[in-house]
Amino acid sequence: MTVMLEVTQKVINSSKSGCECYFLKFGSRGIKVYTGPVTRDRAYTNQVWLHSKGLAPRAYFKGLVKITNRKGSRDCVWYCYETECAETFDYKRYYSDPDGYDDYRERFHTAVKELKEESDKLGVSWYDCHKGNVGFIDGRAVIIDTADRILRNIGKKLDKLGNLSYS
Ligand SMILES: Nc1ncnc2c1ncn2[C@@H]1O[C@H](COP(=O)(O)OP(=O)(O)O)[C@@H](O)[C@H]1O
Ligand SMILES: [Mg+2]
Repeated sequence: MTVMLEVTQKVINSSKSGCECYFLKFGSRGIKVYTGPVTRDRAYTNQVWLHSKGLAPRAYFKGLVKITNRKGSRDCVWYCYETECAETFDYKRYYSDPDGYDDYRERFHTAVKELKEESDKLGVSWYDCHKGNVGFIDGRAVIIDTADRILRNIGKKLDKLGNLSYS
């Protein structure tokens, strides 16, 4: 199965994003959108493998996203995959719950520390480890950003295992 999606540039602009990935949320699932196929493929493969070790959300299917209405330019096609959604850190939480904020933040810090230790044990040291790259699914902490650049040697390790996929 392949994910095929058409969204406007406006949807992309208002999505959550870091430096590489735009995240579109659809209920309990989300679509991670990348501008290039290689970055998407690596993030996908890494996530499938990390999920098999209990450290990442489940990844479902890869696909394409057509981005329409780009001002002054033609529509373009970007690359994506579908993932389980995690609860991510909310900086605005302080305003609705100032008393509970320290505990809330601590929960994410602890998750970062534990996931870093787990990744070290697996030999793929997660070094871009900060609370913006973790989330919780059913109370379990997971690494949500599975890009190659943030996990040491993961490319080499998974190349040996071949192409991982659920589809
Ligand atoms: N599985 C997920 N569940 C919920 N939010 C996510 C998930 N993956 C990514 N996001 C959101 O999208 C943002 C960017 O994704 P990320 O994988 O960190 O890419 P980047 O390489 O751009 O930092 C995250 O900071 C987070 O807000
Ligand atoms: Mg990130």
